[in-house]
Amino acid sequence: MLHLIPQLAISASDLAAAFLFMYGLQRMSSPVTAPSGILFAGIGMVVAVLVSFFYVFDVNAAAHSRLPVNIGLAIVALVLGGGAAWWSGRKVPMTSMPQMVALYNGMGGGAAAAIAAVELFGAPGGASQLVVTLVGALIGSISLSGSLIAWAKLDGVLDKPLRIKGQQVINGVAMLLTLCVGGYIVAVGQGLATPLVATPTLIYVFFACAMVFGILMTLPIGGADMPVVISIYNAFTGLAVSLEGFVLQNPALMIAGMMVGAAGMLLTLLMAKAMNRSVSNVLFTNFGQTPKRKHGQIVEGTLKPVDAGDAGIFMRYASKVIIVPGYGLAVAQGQQKLYEFVKLLQAAGVEVRFAVHPVAGRMPGQMDVLLAEAGVPYDLIFQLDDINGDFESTDVALVIGANDVVNPSARSDKASPIFGMPILNADKAKQVYVVKRGEGQGYAGIENTLFYSSNCGMVYGDAQAVLVKMIEAVRALGLAAAA
Ligand code: TAP
Repeated sequence: MLHLIPQLAISASDLAAAFLFMYGLQRMSSPVTAPSGILFAGIGMVVAVLVSFFYVFDVNAAAHSRLPVNIGLAIVALVLGGGAAWWSGRKVPMTSMPQMVALYNGMGGGAAAAIAAVELFGAPGGASQLVVTLVGALIGSISLSGSLIAWAKLDGVLDKPLRIKGQQVINGVAMLLTLCVGGYIVAVGQGLATPLVATPTLIYVFFACAMVFGILMTLPIGGADMPVVISIYNAFTGLAVSLEGFVLQNPALMIAGMMVGAAGMLLTLLMAKAMNRSVSNVLFTNFGQTPKRKHGQIVEGTLKPVDAGDAGIFMRYASKVIIVPGYGLAVAQGQQKLYEFVKLLQAAGVEVRFAVHPVAGRMPGQMDVLLAEAGVPYDLIFQLDDINGDFESTDVALVIGANDVVNPSARSDKASPIFGMPILNADKAKQVYVVKRGEGQGYAGIENTLFYSSNCGMVYGDAQAVLVKMIEAVRALGLAAAA
């Protein structure tokens, strides 16, 4: 009877962890409940980690002699890993979050691959278990090396897509080679083939091939496809973790992995939709293809610099203003000043709303988080589909630190790398002001035809500094009126 208690505790804790993951994820669907959602999911993870230690009671007596050593190592790893994550999580600036997500996602894939390696070097079991372990190892390794390349690209360590002639053929050969080595490992393991080299060597070759494939697959991708790629690797990591959970018969790993896999896949589909691309198009068509033109598009019109104070005053006398925030707002950390400016406009009777593009910034939801941080009420924040029809009846579109998400060439220029991506129709407003530091390009590295159009004025400067000037100009109006 007594031996049943640990087993019951393990099952109950697994169930509790699974519930906390699901509840946490559900709460993450709105910016209002997201912080508590993260907390619930985090508690679920702590429960899942703690319950792993109960497996001491769940293994056969022969294995007990090895356990104290492994538990000691596990605790050291937990303290080191947890400490590093805590430290880096507190230090990371908002603009570097995507890199961090890519890095941690890679760690997840690497952890799944490491579990698979332990199984493969140990006692991999029957044919089906061996196949599942190898598939988990393959996906986890691709996710590890691919996410590291994604991290390097987002961090600017690798600033250009690296493309070579025949890229897709090379990728195909690398994948085929990995699958052949995997198949050979299964055949040798089942006594169906004579081992030409020692099995551990084969396992090393398998992991090396899978990692090289992950690198080759990610290197050619650049610009606007990167968010989708990270999300795909996120789904891969989840899948790899759930497969290894299946091998270890660990329900917490299975459930957490399946949820990450499903959420990652859904996010991938949503982002692909936001860019008007199919996932297969992102995966197989664009890989290795060089955009026909990156720089030097033919653009008509001129850039028209406008003083920040003048733009601020123009908005003060407008009736309707829509603000399009982008990556540059996060870089400038201008969200507090932006909301201060918005409150001044509202006090003057201007209707102000925010239009958020699904891939504005560098990670999903970054603009929503940024605006929430400044205290902007949620009812002022609108997503693309809900506000795009309103630009035509708007006096001013204030584009602040955004570029690709308002580039009209996405509608008409078939050679543009962002062709087909739905954009916010800022160009349709009566007057557009674009706040940016200079003539720097957006993430996709292309010219923006909006900036040259007749209804667009360029307000040059750091977003926060520009907003300070706008606030001062509008306040000065009020003071002058009072005097
Ligand atoms: P971007 O196209 O990257 O444009 C940002 C603009 O902000 C730049 O043109 C830059 O011009 C300006 N800027 C930078 N620092 C500034 C500062 N301190 N003050 C004022 N302006 C500043 O941004 P976006 O419109 O948000 O589009 C996002 C892009 O990132 C899309 O191509 C998307 O596909 C990609 N992406 C998105 C994600 C997700 S999931 N959101 C992840 C990875 C990539 P200056 O240099 O001239 O100032």
